[in-house]
Formats: sequence, structure tokens, C-alpha cells
Amino acid sequence: MKSITIIKPDDWHLHLRDGDLLKAVIFSSSNHFQRALVMPNLSPPITTVKMAEEYKNRICITNRTVLEKIRPENIDALLSFKPYMTLYLNSEMSSQELKRVSESPDVLAVKFYPAGATTNSTFGVSEFESYYRVFEQMEKLDIVLCVHGESINPEVDVFDREARFIEESFEPMTRRFPNLRVVFEHISTSDAVNFVKDQNENVVASVTPQHLAYNRNNLLAGKLRPHKYCAPLLKKEVDRSSLVHAVTADSNEKFFLGTDSAPHLIGEKESSCGCAGCFSAPYALAKYAEVFSAESKLENLEKFASLNGAKFYGLPVNKEKINLVQKNNIPTDFFMTEKGEKIVSFVHGEALDWQVVN
Ligand code: DOR
Ligand code: ZN
Repeated sequence: MKSITIIKPDDWHLHLRDGDLLKAVIFSSSNHFQRALVMPNLSPPITTVKMAEEYKNRICITNRTVLEKIRPENIDALLSFKPYMTLYLNSEMSSQELKRVSESPDVLAVKFYPAGATTNSTFGVSEFESYYRVFEQMEKLDIVLCVHGESINPEVDVFDREARFIEESFEPMTRRFPNLRVVFEHISTSDAVNFVKDQNENVVASVTPQHLAYNRNNLLAGKLRPHKYCAPLLKKEVDRSSLVHAVTADSNEKFFLGTDSAPHLIGEKESSCGCAGCFSAPYALAKYAEVFSAESKLENLEKFASLNGAKFYGLPVNKEKINLVQKNNIPTDFFMTEKGEKIVSFVHGEALDWQVVN
């Protein structure tokens, strides 16, 4: 039986939602991750440092409330879960607000969403270029820009949107702002892997468990699996394999863990018009371990999960450790809100090969 002990990981891309849903999913993250970068796409979106601080407080209070109810053995460690916040980039973002971001210990980045690309992203204008004024200031203030990189031109095929965004928007932007620190979020194609590798050290990428573990056949062939539906979509096997090689390589410094865990209630997923988003938090680490183990590269998991992201964001390395064992196990069927509404994880219906043992 294989096993591995690594420094407790951080999740550098997480959707925690709010209210009842937050309450239902927070433990899945605080159980396995020391810190997380929380996305701002609530409705209305988080657009100011003040809103971000209030949201952060709701997250911490909810984590405490949930833990006090279930009283896990390692409650003290789990109470130290630290959410870092992001602001939703929009045309009203002022110089004063950016200054506040640069001075805030809680807000680590500003997030760009192409209008309409995914959940709660109808806010703001769509053109990347229209934010060059903001990027210039972010570059000066050394604020990190997180990018959802997909073209939203309706004529572009949905499977080609990431590649088109690189060519039309990302490439010109990084040429213009070489000192802006940028995270290309949830990369899904070999084009994105190559782009990130070709750029200087200021351009890095986060990678989800679903884009490493599955290709589009796992989503679409034979039967439709809505719990594996996310934006950007799962791509071809050549893309998956390129991502796997990039993250498991000995020189994987530009790539780090970001689950993009994005819970939706079951009715929003199993629907005639379903939402994009994989709820991955409870099984993400197990899935990452499976991917690294299959490549015989478990020794590089710690860099990807616990070191590279912290280094990029200029934060210290975590002190705690976490253990994983290779052991066939069946994941929990459903997670529940207090009202009894179900949330289904992205591994639903599968057995897992790895397990976290706290
Ligand atoms: O699939 C996704 N779901 N991709 C995103 O970028 C957002 C997320 C969500 O918030 O549901
Ligand atoms: Zn996301």
C-alpha cells in the first residue's frame, strides 16, 4: 500500500458561496486545506475591500459554527483555516480601491471574468483591453491578477475558447505588462500549458483535479455526467495529458493547486439548463494524488499542492502535515444543506483510489 505525507496544501481557487451553501461545504475545504483563495462571483459580486472583509468574516464564523457542531478530533487545526479574498474586476474599479487592495492583508488578488462566461459573471464589461488602465496600476502596485481565460465571442466554438483567448487577449496583454503577476486559472488545454511555460516567471497557472483526471469523453461519451460539467469544459485526451505532464514534472514551479470547487444544489446541475461547476473540495486531494501516483511522480505532489502557490503569493509555507494513502474507497453520495438540499460531488458514481487520513 502506497502512502505519502505532505505539508498541508492550500487551495488557490475556491468558490465557497454564502449562507446555507457555505455552511454545507466549508468543512470539505477546512478539513484538507490550510488556506484558500476565495472567488468573488457572488450575487452581487464582491467588488470592494470592505465587502471582501465582511465576506471573509462570514466564512470564518461559519467554519467555527460548523466545527463546533460536529466537533472533529482535530478541531483546533481546522479552526485555523484561512480564507484569502479576491475582488471582481469591473469597470468601476477605482484607483483608490486598488490602493486599498494593495494595503489589505486579506485581499490577495483581483479576478477577471469574461462577461457571461460562467456562474454570476454577467457583471461588468467583457473586453480584456478595456482594463488596461487597471492593469497598469495593478502592475505598479504589485497586485496579482487572476484570469478566467476564455473568449466569449459567440462565434467561437466552446472547446476553442481558451486557445482563442490566449491568442487574442492574453498574449498581447502579457507583452504590454511584463511585470504584472498573473494567474491563468483552471487551465484546460495544451495551448495554455505552452503559453504559461513560454512566459516569464510572472505568469503561472492553477490546475483543477477534474482537468487532470478526466477528458471530454468522461463528460459526454455514452451518457452525460452533469457533475463533471464546468467552465472551461473538459478537453481532449492530448490536453489532459499535457496538463498532467506539466504539473507532475520535476520542474513544475509554474503550476499549482486550485480546485475551482464550485458547488451547486443538485437541481441546478441535474437540469434541462444546468450550471457549470464541479464540487470537488472533499475529494480533490485524493484525485490529485491518484494523478501523481499514476505518473509515478508522487514526490512532486507537495510542490504542486503546498509550495508553488504559497511562493507565488509571497506567503510562508504551512507548518501542518497531511497524510494520504492508496486505498480503494467509495465517496459519500451526497452532501446536504440544513434544509436537506443535496450537493453532489464530481466523483459521484466512482470508486476512489486514494484517501486523506487526518
Ligand atoms: O465551472 C465553473 N463554475 N467555472 C467557473 O469559472 C465558475 C464556477 C462557479 O462559480 O460555479
Ligand atoms: Zn472558478
